Amino acid sequence: MVLGLPTGRTPVPLYAELARLYAAGDVDFSQASTFNLDEFVGLSADDPRSYRAFMERQLFGRVNLHPRRIHFLNGLAPDTAVECTRYERQIARAGGLDLLILGLGVNGHIGFNEPGATLVAHTHKTVLTRGTRRANAGLFGGRLRDVPGHAVSMGMATILRARRIVLLATGRNKATAVRRLVEERITTRVPASFLQLHPSVEVWVDQNAAAKLSDAAK
Ligand code: GLP
Repeated sequence: MVLGLPTGRTPVPLYAELARLYAAGDVDFSQASTFNLDEFVGLSADDPRSYRAFMERQLFGRVNLHPRRIHFLNGLAPDTAVECTRYERQIARAGGLDLLILGLGVNGHIGFNEPGATLVAHTHKTVLTRGTRRANAGLFGGRLRDVPGHAVSMGMATILRARRIVLLATGRNKATAVRRLVEERITTRVPASFLQLHPSVEVWVDQNAAAKLSDAAK
């Protein structure tokens, strides 16, 4: 299986459960490949604040994924355009994403596709909003000024080409974004709303994240 994976607090229990299943002999990653959604620009893979290092701690170092099958955007690539094209090609060569797990930004972003007047189709370099940098400050000792201003991210088409998508959202601070994604019109101001166009998407929420959904949507 070719997996697309997110970072953030939301998938931490999922990765812990996958590690537990692996330790119990109930799941085998030896044939799986992974592509992470995004990475900060300016951080090396072994920088403990990078998404790559986060994934090593949460999942890669705890299961039998083959290092050659782990794919990541390189935040230090000298030419980001070349790096983004390389990543798209790698995903295509792997046969595309079979299952993409997504988190959800408080502002409705997915990956690092931030709300705006337009969205970008393919993997690209993006400017992070202040709110998103604040949401990520935990990785940087809470210091907003240390959070990079740019990231590289799969684009909306990269995401929507995945065969199956599972979006996870937990906590009350996601309730508005969940309602917008599920119940409101598709808009570039809520990038996750484009998931309404996908034929096979599941949105998994806890009670708090579901708090603003209408009864009909539940
Ligand atoms: C980050 C990541 C997203 C992630 C989101 C939510 O900015 N780039 O891929 O889904 O924030 O993070 P959390 O799960 O910590 O709320």
